[in-house]
Amino acid sequence: MAGKQIRVHHAEGSARGTIEVQTSQCTPQKFTLKAVYSSAGEADIENSTVVISSTEVASLSGTDSVSGDDTSPPSTSGEVNNNSAPSPATTNDNPGPRSIQEPPKEALALKVLQIIETYGVNFERNGGWSWEGLSAFMPIVTKQIKNNEPVQLLLPGFPFKAPNSKDKVLGVLPDLGEELALSHLDSICKNIEEVYEHGAELYICSDGLVYNDLLGVSDEEVWDYGEGVRRIAEERELRHIKFIRLWDLLDHPGPWTKDFYLTHASCIRREMVYRYRDPEFEADMASKSDDDIRLTHSGYLKGVAKDLAYSPILEGLSPEEKDLKVQSIAKSMMARWRAYANALEANRKEYVRLSIHDSAGKNSKLSLSLLPQERGKMGYTPWHSVIAIELDGSYRTVHASEVRDTHDLVYVNGRPSHFRAKSDIFDWKADGLDVTFRHQYPTGIYIRPANVSAEKPAPSIRDLPMKKVRKLSQTFSPIVLRGFRETTDEQLFLAKGHELGEVLTWTFGQILKVKDSGETDKDANNVTSNEAMPMHFDGIFKFIDHTDPVTGEVKKVLTPPRYQYFTCISTAPKNTGFTLFANSRLFFRHLPAPWSLERLSKATWDMVNDGFWSAKQIGLPLVVKHKETGASCLRFHEPWTNTKFSKYYITIENDDQSLIDVIKQVVYDHRVCLRFEWEEGDLLINDNVSMLHTRTAFTGDCDREMWRIHFD
Ligand SMILES: [Fe+2]
Repeated sequence: MAGKQIRVHHAEGSARGTIEVQTSQCTPQKFTLKAVYSSAGEADIENSTVVISSTEVASLSGTDSVSGDDTSPPSTSGEVNNNSAPSPATTNDNPGPRSIQEPPKEALALKVLQIIETYGVNFERNGGWSWEGLSAFMPIVTKQIKNNEPVQLLLPGFPFKAPNSKDKVLGVLPDLGEELALSHLDSICKNIEEVYEHGAELYICSDGLVYNDLLGVSDEEVWDYGEGVRRIAEERELRHIKFIRLWDLLDHPGPWTKDFYLTHASCIRREMVYRYRDPEFEADMASKSDDDIRLTHSGYLKGVAKDLAYSPILEGLSPEEKDLKVQSIAKSMMARWRAYANALEANRKEYVRLSIHDSAGKNSKLSLSLLPQERGKMGYTPWHSVIAIELDGSYRTVHASEVRDTHDLVYVNGRPSHFRAKSDIFDWKADGLDVTFRHQYPTGIYIRPANVSAEKPAPSIRDLPMKKVRKLSQTFSPIVLRGFRETTDEQLFLAKGHELGEVLTWTFGQILKVKDSGETDKDANNVTSNEAMPMHFDGIFKFIDHTDPVTGEVKKVLTPPRYQYFTCISTAPKNTGFTLFANSRLFFRHLPAPWSLERLSKATWDMVNDGFWSAKQIGLPLVVKHKETGASCLRFHEPWTNTKFSKYYITIENDDQSLIDVIKQVVYDHRVCLRFEWEEGDLLINDNVSMLHTRTAFTGDCDREMWRIHFD
């Protein structure tokens, strides 16, 4: 037996230590691995290490042993060996979906339109549905691409809050519903930007002035709501969202002042109707209606009745008179809707048209939900509803009356913003802390101290209720604690880690200081570099023994750390060095047919690493159960070969290899993945089971530095 020492680097660099390799001279392919990872408190691990013996390795090539998962007992085999050169047929190279290539313009236009198509409700209703807009908008998008211009999209909407603050909404100004809807719309453009360098712009043309007088809403409320929507786009840095005013369609651009707007609002409305109304449509609306128009009309009827439930417009009327009045208003709204559609068509031809009205998918306009929930359902628009945040991390659009008794009303900046499921994990006042929770799209919460002043400085992290943070992270990851004091006190950082859970001890200790080491040789650690990284979970090389309670058989089980905990010492330059967090719940929500959670739950994959460890793991389940929530979680490592460090080759073992590209596409989708930009002093807690993560590249001469702890 000859033994030698080689350096080991964890997939994410968390185990920069040594590994003992004992090579059998008679069987040179077999070896023993020792001291791969150590984890304090893992009493069943010999000497606090994971050991894969030569005997076990020998058996691995045959029947079984390593792998599976701690959260779902292994039924498949795993393997570790040192001569597992991947075959070309089983590799999947970078670049992933973020790369920008130069296909023919028409092919690129088709790709862009296919991205837009996935936002349609009919795409979800019928897998493989072909949107008529694909051909209808092809010449427009191709032309914009040939001109190196952003692709332009147009959505009429965001008029004003429905005038029923008792049952439906929380007031007259935008709230979390608009924030999420605008972010969702911005995500269309961001997804397009991943494949087309000039990206896209989404123009919102408010139809507030088109209808407001019919529903008793003042012009001033329309203005205030519109300004609020614009502020959200600015504050949330939704730079792809643009705005058009009704008067832009009529060639009456004016100064953007409230006074001018209020002075001219009624004239603009009258002119729009005068120039673009369709008397024939109005005269015989019913017989000329197609399915889509009937859907819109039926939506208006229902909406108007509820909007005006407490309005002076219906006050004192008998039930029959109310019905007639509602029908009359809905009919007028349809006439205005047609006039407005005509105005848009006449003035904005070079746009891909989106619509918040449902349709059977037989026309070129794409019917989309502003906040996807149940598959294939439109859901309410934010101006007809309020957001309810559930403890599984999901957002729902509901009428306020549905959740007033079951959820807490949450105020943001002194205004009612949304409802949230009742839970003491949000009650930090009980811990003596005054904080705000800002929910992010598509996932994540920023928690900040509230009411900070010279007299009342921000609290220290020593006051944070870490058990609540841990619980929050299981469904709302990442949890960003921003604006607290003493975040870079190393001993305090570690002490708070022990409050979160059982801190893992690796060969380098408990804290990994993540910064660019400047090393570039293949065996160096890619985490401590400035390279972009693959989408992954931490701990792909961490195994522990699992004893079958029935048979007593011992197997090596992949047991990644369950949580990550960071503090940010120093950041990369703006717009670089993002950490990306992909949410499993959203991944399965947006996974396109024919793929499904059920199908992926049966899939296993293997991974070959050609670098420092020359390892192969097989039989890895693609879906695991979260120990604490029971949720189905995606467990995957992105193939990664475009690197100067060690490469990762991934193969799906028992399903089509195209699944790899599907997963890559969806985990980076902006509906699934949060691009997080660090600020100095941020604490961040992330669930390493329910989330995958990665990092974008950054310039090598900056001093970006994070400290990281793993805990179970
Ligand atoms: Fe990592």
